[in-house]
Amino acid sequence: MRPYFFFLIILSFLSCNDEPTQDVQINIIPVPAELAISKGHFKLNGFKTFYIDESFNELKFVFNQLANFRESESKNGADLKLHFDKSLAAEAYSIKIEEDEMNIRASDSKGMFYGLMTFRQLVDQHPLKIPCLEIKDQAHFKYRGMHLDVARHFYPVDFVKQYIDLLAYYKFNYFHWHLTEDQGWRIEIKKYPKLQEVAAYREETLIGHYTDQPHQFDGKKYGGYYTQEEIKEVVAYAESRQITVIPEIEMPGHSLAALSAYPELACSRGPFKAATKWGVFEHVYCPTETTFQFLEDVIDEVIALFPGPYIHIGGDECPKTSWKESDFCQQLIKHKNLKDEHGLQSYFIQRMEKYINSKGKSIIGWDEILEGGLAPNATVMSWRGVEGGIEAANAKHDVIMTPTSHCYFDYYQSTSQKEPLAIGGYLPLEKVYRFDPIPAELDEEAREYILGAQGNVWTEYMPSQEQVIYMAFPRAMALSEVLWSYPSERDYGDFVARVESQINQWDAKGVKMANHLYEIKLEMESIGGGVVRVKSKPLPVGCALAMQDSLGNYRKDGVFNMTGPSTFRVMQGNEFKGEELRLNPSAHLAFGSKVSLKYPPHSKYEGFGATSLVNGISANPKAYSGNEWLGFDGKDMVLSIDLGSVKELSYGSIEFFNSPDSWIYPPTEVMVEAAADEENYFPILQKKVKESSNKHMVVELPLRTFEARYLRVRARNHGMIKSGQGEGNPAWLFVGEVVL
Ligand code: ACM
Repeated sequence: MRPYFFFLIILSFLSCNDEPTQDVQINIIPVPAELAISKGHFKLNGFKTFYIDESFNELKFVFNQLANFRESESKNGADLKLHFDKSLAAEAYSIKIEEDEMNIRASDSKGMFYGLMTFRQLVDQHPLKIPCLEIKDQAHFKYRGMHLDVARHFYPVDFVKQYIDLLAYYKFNYFHWHLTEDQGWRIEIKKYPKLQEVAAYREETLIGHYTDQPHQFDGKKYGGYYTQEEIKEVVAYAESRQITVIPEIEMPGHSLAALSAYPELACSRGPFKAATKWGVFEHVYCPTETTFQFLEDVIDEVIALFPGPYIHIGGDECPKTSWKESDFCQQLIKHKNLKDEHGLQSYFIQRMEKYINSKGKSIIGWDEILEGGLAPNATVMSWRGVEGGIEAANAKHDVIMTPTSHCYFDYYQSTSQKEPLAIGGYLPLEKVYRFDPIPAELDEEAREYILGAQGNVWTEYMPSQEQVIYMAFPRAMALSEVLWSYPSERDYGDFVARVESQINQWDAKGVKMANHLYEIKLEMESIGGGVVRVKSKPLPVGCALAMQDSLGNYRKDGVFNMTGPSTFRVMQGNEFKGEELRLNPSAHLAFGSKVSLKYPPHSKYEGFGATSLVNGISANPKAYSGNEWLGFDGKDMVLSIDLGSVKELSYGSIEFFNSPDSWIYPPTEVMVEAAADEENYFPILQKKVKESSNKHMVVELPLRTFEARYLRVRARNHGMIKSGQGEGNPAWLFVGEVVL
């Protein structure tokens, strides 16, 4: 492994006509391995000249985006010189900015391109004068990828190019283009015209979230595809930006759109239609000779379009139902001496791998390709966690890490209820930034198989290109830094300052990225006596949480007592950052009481622990994310409450989330018990909970008037799921506020 250097040397001598150099902020992402700032500037007023060594002529186009640079015929006197320098390592570069000239050096086009991207960032951030500095830089990981699903939603070529430009700007080197899906086929295949005529379109599209019941549709035909000419254009565009495009042709699952055009490729007779909603579908390619002929023909045309080394063949989420029911498949399993349908999937992938290898290309597959036996030369994309990647690396297979936990940029990036609809989950910027693609359990040898990582942008809930940008950035910046500068001491505060500057720069150009850099994230503890104690989770460097006092002043006390409506801000010095957070807790009797839970919630949905149930704040009625919901995996919710003194109670209610498609069920019943001491509980209420189609359920607790200090509230888990999604698994119970 390459030793890693990180130097930030700021020389702090001052002169009369120059501002102090320690005020110079260099906001490059990913952070360069070595950066030393010195005194002075190169002034960019008027036209400037560049001289390019002819070995880098293919990179001249970069100056289209550096408008005031003109090519110079001679090296002497040019303001910016791009040198071939064989002393530098492959893909490395150096930059030196001095008051009278600027030099970039590299030994190959990739290195020079990365140098130019850093130079572009310098010019974008310092359009009038670039600080004198010296940079030495090279990437750590070989694979730095971003993905885009153009099947759930389709984006025009111009947008795909814009996306590639952004990837290049942050030094990514792979673009994974997810071209086929249940909901649409997006690449022209000349031998199979119905892929364009039929499979590229769906009749309509689901409105709202998949878990909204009943499903509603927009009634509008939707689709499109890229012609082979357009594909070539995109591939060439990416290639000139040192980005390799990896096409993904999904098999054997996620293939409903193809089956709608060629139903003979399925195990059962159609007709089939391209999916109009999201999820996983039972009809998949049947492993017949007809199917293999079709897929080989498709791959032949794909290989001719994509010069890169990899073809991604999917392999994920392939239900085995249709293979179980098919006599043909059962015969094939016997004939080939396979163990079961997983063996059949492995046979499918291995056969396609052999074909693709015979054409001089390698396959990549999602981690399901490990099941039933890994194809001999496959690279594994580990998405359901890092475990698949660990298994593959230990088996000496190349691995690209893309776990949902850190790399799924379709997840929510904020807990704000103002966020645009997303698939679910929660992946804030800081979590991406803290990602380590190399799991600690790998030994020295196995670590070498981790090629890098990739951010995935699945687009079920991204109907517009603006939304793709909003979801992908700035999280892609965090991933780029993880992959380029690994394993630097990660200073999230320093990163935030650079991201802020980058976001503002793009904003001025009309590119709107998400900005949750100063979002207020609280910790809460209900301490009794009607007080919820509030602190901030760690904030970017130099920032502190402040709460407004009764006179309207903001106090940065560190720890705050919330007893009623409260307004919080993040402050950096005297300056407000980000948006204010106003909380209006409802003043019910259990608010701010001492509470505890018999069973802890699942660590993924643990909010503020028992405090979430009595902090006066209702849970998000639309999604089970956020700190106000507690999720119990197969367990009951049993909450003990100490009201502090004997109080008279006569009413209560509890919030539950109800989303059977997500395995989340309301309780079968709720019970309330009370005691004057902590031991002798007597029953107050036992209530069966009726089924409901509402996602957000508020179960009323009609209590006869009674007096008590101690209460126990139990919500009984639904138990095993008997049918539908999650069948045979324990149900989840999600509980919001417990009001008394
Ligand atoms: C995947 O997210 N199904 C790879």
